[in-house]
Amino acid sequence: MKETRPIGIFDSGIGGLTVLRQLRKLLPNEQLIYFGDTARIPYGTKSKKLIERYAIEDAAFLLQFDVKMIVVACNTASALAMDVLKKRLPVPVTGVIRPGALAAIRHSKKKQTLIMGTSATVRSGAYTEAIQAQDPDFTVVARDCPLLVPLVEEGWLDDPVTMMTLHKYLDPVLNAEIDSLILGCTHYPLLAESIRKVTGPDVHLIDSGYETAYYVRETLKQLKLEHKGTRPGEDRFYVSDIPQKFADIGARFLGEPLAHLKRVDFENFLVEQNDRIEKLLSPKVEQ
Ligand code: DGL
Repeated sequence: MKETRPIGIFDSGIGGLTVLRQLRKLLPNEQLIYFGDTARIPYGTKSKKLIERYAIEDAAFLLQFDVKMIVVACNTASALAMDVLKKRLPVPVTGVIRPGALAAIRHSKKKQTLIMGTSATVRSGAYTEAIQAQDPDFTVVARDCPLLVPLVEEGWLDDPVTMMTLHKYLDPVLNAEIDSLILGCTHYPLLAESIRKVTGPDVHLIDSGYETAYYVRETLKQLKLEHKGTRPGEDRFYVSDIPQKFADIGARFLGEPLAHLKRVDFENFLVEQNDRIEKLLSPKVEQ
């Protein structure tokens, strides 16, 4: 039965577990297969071309599991590779940008939002484009915050260094008109409390992962792909490397210990699947 197939989720690392956590809450009957490209993180400092290639390779890994849909948990990959993924993948694919952008519009009375993200996400202008496509009068301020990913991975969620860094990034761009803020990176939901201390209570913080989980649920309903029975299997987690402190960090992102985790020989997978991946990447080869 088609509906029992799992949903595939990928991210540049384990930050995407914040998205998986939300999917688990909203879609308890679905089996989730997660791939974190921990060997090649960060994506947020890389070029569009490379991010597109990585995203296709990550998706190709998930396609092996006969997934019915792919969720791009990584904001950077969602911002830079959605076009190529949508065009080239044989299953429906959704990223985190559009759901986050729509939530920003819903939650902003003053029509001003602030986006925090990696350098590549901010440079892409993807959130701004998605918001202004719905409402051209909306003012969007974007701030890249490249130091936040390593601070979160270090577990310094409210350390004075993190607070200082947040002030340095946000103080110059915050103003009284901004009343919504998109946490435009997998890692930032873990900083929500600290970010709120900097913005004050009147700014609505938007977790793109949470919004995406709703969107995925609606999409599955529309496509008649939702699974209504008991979960067909345990969730599975695959990573391309297991860095030091991985279990601790993973548990923090997921909110519980990580089970069924496996390191895969991703380099070998890429060599073996080279022809298939090149076909996915190149429209000419596919014809
Ligand atoms: N997962 C990335 C994102 O959401 C953050 C980490 C990275 O730079 O790869 O943008």
